[in-house]
Amino acid sequence: MDSIVVTGGNALKGRIPIAGAKNACLTLMPATLLSEEPLTLTNAPRLSDIRTMTTLLQSLGAEVQGLQEGQVLAMSSHALDNHTADYDIVRKMRASILVLGPLLARDGHAVVSLPGGCAIGARPVDLHLRALEAMGAELDLRDGYVHAKAPSGGLRGGTVDFPLVSVGATENALMAATLAKGTTVINNAAREPEIVDLAECLRKMGAQIEGDGTPTITVEGVDRLGGATHRVVTDRIELGTYMLAPAICGGEVECLGGEIRLLEAFCEKLDEAGISVEETDDGLKVARRNGRVKAVDVTTEPFPGFPTDLQAQMMALLCTAEGKSVLEEKIFENRFMHAPELMRMGAQIDVHGGTATVSGVDKLKGAPVMATDLRASVSLILAGLAAEGETVVSRVYHLDRGYEHVVRKLSGVGAQIERVSGS
Ligand code: EPZ
Repeated sequence: MDSIVVTGGNALKGRIPIAGAKNACLTLMPATLLSEEPLTLTNAPRLSDIRTMTTLLQSLGAEVQGLQEGQVLAMSSHALDNHTADYDIVRKMRASILVLGPLLARDGHAVVSLPGGCAIGARPVDLHLRALEAMGAELDLRDGYVHAKAPSGGLRGGTVDFPLVSVGATENALMAATLAKGTTVINNAAREPEIVDLAECLRKMGAQIEGDGTPTITVEGVDRLGGATHRVVTDRIELGTYMLAPAICGGEVECLGGEIRLLEAFCEKLDEAGISVEETDDGLKVARRNGRVKAVDVTTEPFPGFPTDLQAQMMALLCTAEGKSVLEEKIFENRFMHAPELMRMGAQIDVHGGTATVSGVDKLKGAPVMATDLRASVSLILAGLAAEGETVVSRVYHLDRGYEHVVRKLSGVGAQIERVSGS
């Protein structure tokens, strides 16, 4: 397994290009199942999760071609010959559940493995299933699979009332509703930019959707959807991650393609911590205002609140802030696994349930640490940028799921970082 070796202390200077959003692409790709016409995605990120979704769609009979080194995904599912999403693919990536709604809406039946949990939580899919039942689907859970059938006339428009905000369940419901007969109203819908990006793509395909980006989405079902070409929205989590690099070790970095509208709550917290964020013609320029970062309190919430996917990275910044910071993780039940690894580097963190209290120290010390999940892995790299000496982050396959070319992007702005291939 490969490791990444970071030698801290360099201030950063330069520009980092931000890729297309993994979490937008993972819902835009299954949308191809809704139409027999071609769907082409540009600005697609080159990540292992995208390759996993490609394999899944191909296993269903869809054609997926990666053009221009994978930045363009040319897809077509005019002839699906399989409606079963196997456990051996689904267990690798939970987002595989997002083929359920499209398959059900298009052909009236699907068999999809339950994804199982992951390191950060149990990750149930009950809300996905509830949404599809509200559109008339009959679901039978057995042998670890969801056996789904639409009514004989196809899915019917209905009212979906989510008791809590779920990004994936909103995406499954939205895609299914585009072909359901009649009107579907989704209440307490997720408002993430990735939801808006999906709705924009579906509208290009002929869907009738209103209210995306607000808590109530209304969909008028249509008989069929056409093809489209759609540019994947900028990855706000990669953006926030790289904005923290100059914040944590000094210097000034311009994140190309970044927009404040994607991360307003996060940018407000950076401002509070003493980090300046300036909108430029090409993106966002980030630098420390002066001296040491100040402690701030953070609570993760659904969009437009502070993103849970930036909590681990923000914790790395706050480990060397002046004062005590309290981080509350309200979305997932086990998303502080990076804390013990940061403590190996000298961080002072007290974790009680969903609350972590970070007492800032002057300096972190490089150490061998282990990545436990995607966002934890990159928070350890950020900490390594600021630490004295060498930090070796192992199990970086987690990183490859969500970040392309980390070493190239960070060394391009002056970080001392390299990838070492392991056994
Ligand atoms: C998406 O996961 C993202 N993944 C996650 O990013 C992100 O952390 C999460 O949204 C929250 O923003 C993709 O888009 C592929 P949820 P998702 O449904 O849809 C509970 C990353 O690092 N819940 O919004 O699975 C759930 O347990 C990943 O890129 C149910 O109870 O998240 C959680 O506590 C990690 N029942 C809360 O809702 C359900 O049926 C929010 O989960 C579904 C979810």
